[in-house]
Amino acid sequence: MEKTRVLITGASGQIGQALVQALVDEFGERNVLATDLKPSEAFSHFEELDILETNHYQKLVGGFKPTIIYHLAGILSAVGEKNPSVLWKVNVQGWINTLNIALENKVSKVFFPSSIAVFGPGSSLDYTRQNVALHPTTVYGISKVAGENLAQYFFRKFGLDVRGIRYPGIISYQSPPGGGTTDYAVDIFYQALDSGRYECFLSGDVRLPMMYIDDAVRGTLELMQANAESLSVRTSYNFGAVSFTPTELATSIRKIIPDFEISYAPDFREEIANTWPRNIDDTPARRDWNWQHQFEIDDIVRDMLMKLKEKNTLRSKKN
Ligand SMILES: NC(=O)c1ccc[n+]([C@@H]2O[C@H](COP(=O)([O-])OP(=O)(O)OC[C@H]3O[C@@H](n4cnc5c(N)ncnc54)[C@H](O)[C@@H]3O)[C@@H](O)[C@H]2O)c1
Repeated sequence: MEKTRVLITGASGQIGQALVQALVDEFGERNVLATDLKPSEAFSHFEELDILETNHYQKLVGGFKPTIIYHLAGILSAVGEKNPSVLWKVNVQGWINTLNIALENKVSKVFFPSSIAVFGPGSSLDYTRQNVALHPTTVYGISKVAGENLAQYFFRKFGLDVRGIRYPGIISYQSPPGGGTTDYAVDIFYQALDSGRYECFLSGDVRLPMMYIDDAVRGTLELMQANAESLSVRTSYNFGAVSFTPTELATSIRKIIPDFEISYAPDFREEIANTWPRNIDDTPARRDWNWQHQFEIDDIVRDMLMKLKEKNTLRSKKN
């Protein structure tokens, strides 16, 4: 059997840092190459790579010969609204570069990170199913719809084994979030520990689907290990776990930090959030590759506060 060798683009980001660690644990450091525009201290096997620089990208893939590429490089929703043409170049042209290079170099599997931002008005946002109308309101969402369709196109036309997930808001402790609409659900933990209070950029009752990083990484690896024949979705799978409002998250935090206070000052991100699903129906993922989440809201809160406290203790010991 061919030895697994993995290349990750956008590895220094919120999901990348956690995913690289899991891949190194599974396949060993020399078989996992982390790449990004910016280096991260976390990796010992790292190459700088701009996915828009195709010559360098070609050389890197030709030299390392990955069997799998996880394509995480991208620009997120809130940042993208401020510079749509840069987002389009990175999220769409960068993805096409990855697909072409994967095909030319006979890479066996490619992973695409889509998002709940593909949905919009007309997607039945109370409980959003896999196959609904996709009319996103952000350039980010539009780029992800294009990306999903390109994934399916390369699968159907060239037989490239591309697999994708529509991530909800990801909550993680490894690195700060990258400028998305669900970032509040990470920032709130830093502020809860630092000052005991948080001013939220969404209103208290805005419900969004969320997932803990441990679930997100495990689910991603499980999708990539599933039998190709069992996969019925080649755009990107709905991928669900929990769903909550800022008020509900604050209530859960108060079970551990009783004096925690939250206030609300909604900004432009509220408008984006209001066009995203409140709950996700991920029946196809649960049926096709046995997806099951493990972390409920109170589990996420307990683990996040514990992990961030451990990081703070380590940092103050170093100083
Ligand atoms: N974090 C979430 O909640 C979430 C939700 C849905 C989808 N996603 C998707 O998952 C992927 C990873 O998300 P993340 O949260 O880790 O994002 P992030 O912003 O934290 O990381 C993205 C990384 O891509 C890198 N990058 C940007 N432009 C690049 C370029 N031209 N060449 C190479 N690298 C480049 C950045 O330096 C950054 O490290 C993205 O495609 C994102 O759209 C994330």
